[in-house]
Amino acid sequence: MAPADPILGVTETYVADQNPKKVNLGVGVYTDDNGKVPLLECVRRAEAERSKSGAPWSYLPIDGLAAYDQGVQRLLFGEQRKNVVTVQALGGTGGLKIGADFLRLLAPRATVWISDPSWENHRQLFEAAGFEVKSYPYYDARTHGVDFAGMRRTLEGLPAGDIVVLHACCHNPTGVDLSREQWSEVLAVVQARRLLPFVDLAYQGFADGIDADAYAARLFADAMSPVFLSSSFSKSVSLYGERVGAFSLVAGSEEEAKRALSQIKRIVRTNYSNPPSHGGQIVAAILNNAELRRLWESELAGMRDRIKAMRKALVDNIQKRVPGADFGFVLQQRGLFSYSGLSREQVLRLRSEYSIYAIESGRICVAALNSRNIDYVADAIAKVIR
Ligand SMILES: Cc1ncc(COP(=O)(O)O)c(C=O)c1O
Repeated sequence: MAPADPILGVTETYVADQNPKKVNLGVGVYTDDNGKVPLLECVRRAEAERSKSGAPWSYLPIDGLAAYDQGVQRLLFGEQRKNVVTVQALGGTGGLKIGADFLRLLAPRATVWISDPSWENHRQLFEAAGFEVKSYPYYDARTHGVDFAGMRRTLEGLPAGDIVVLHACCHNPTGVDLSREQWSEVLAVVQARRLLPFVDLAYQGFADGIDADAYAARLFADAMSPVFLSSSFSKSVSLYGERVGAFSLVAGSEEEAKRALSQIKRIVRTNYSNPPSHGGQIVAAILNNAELRRLWESELAGMRDRIKAMRKALVDNIQKRVPGADFGFVLQQRGLFSYSGLSREQVLRLRSEYSIYAIESGRICVAALNSRNIDYVADAIAKVIR
């Protein structure tokens, strides 16, 4: 038997819990104030249009729908670029796997470096692609911030050609991101050491906005090649199960980009032949139609603002109950998650005494908080930290 997925295990226990007040803070999805995964209005309209057209569901090209790939590239880099290839992928995970398989051809002996901690699938995904995976220091539990000195020191010691996976924004699981100054320093080290950056942009629009959240991707793409990039619409368009994402490669020239695309298409062809059509068509419609695009941006801003409001409500409510409790760092974190600073014992007490399910590392999904459960959760946290 393979080991169970630790995060999905938490959800299974949550589902079996009979307590009507139970709250699942372990998941990695955005839910609205009613606790539901939203169906965005822009998606509903794009789907209705598509359905009305009566078009059949034929195969897509190996690299995906052209209108999708072009739209994604403009979203990521602000424009289409001749030296960049973008191919539709099965979510952000699929984008990472295409990139990992391609890197395995280019740099089979490289070591892959991921942040400590990181999204739990990074390690397994790159190991499954045949790489040795190690981690660089990232989170500093003492300051609730980035251990930037440790991160930089480790990157500075890496041999040329090693691969560095970087979370572009909304770091999963900590919620702690690099500042723009720190990004510049990371870029300088990556260039000086001739490392291969793999930027993972799974939450574009969830921190500060579409362009602001693409900052790191654009910084690297403007400065160097190759840059590997995976991106996802699972969260930003609430299309989780549709598996809509992309892999992009910033090459050194248009000619190099063409050759890279030919190799990437072989990887896709031998894995799943071509990507699924439905989600890609919906996103292509949203990205390429001015009205749907405006609607999406306002719905995305609504999700972003609600998460920020929940961060504030959590901090205020805990501080009201436990004066002097220092939870202010939660306001600096971005995206779905927060490393709450709760210990394993406190997380287990929340589970057994209050049916509130967080990850044992202390990670909570802030987007699972809403106006109905915020008091209950803040109250329970206040009791376990006292
Ligand atoms: C950092 C990171 N990368 C990639 C992914 C994968 O996203 P997708 O569901 O689109 O495959 C996630 C999803 O949680 C993530 O947190």
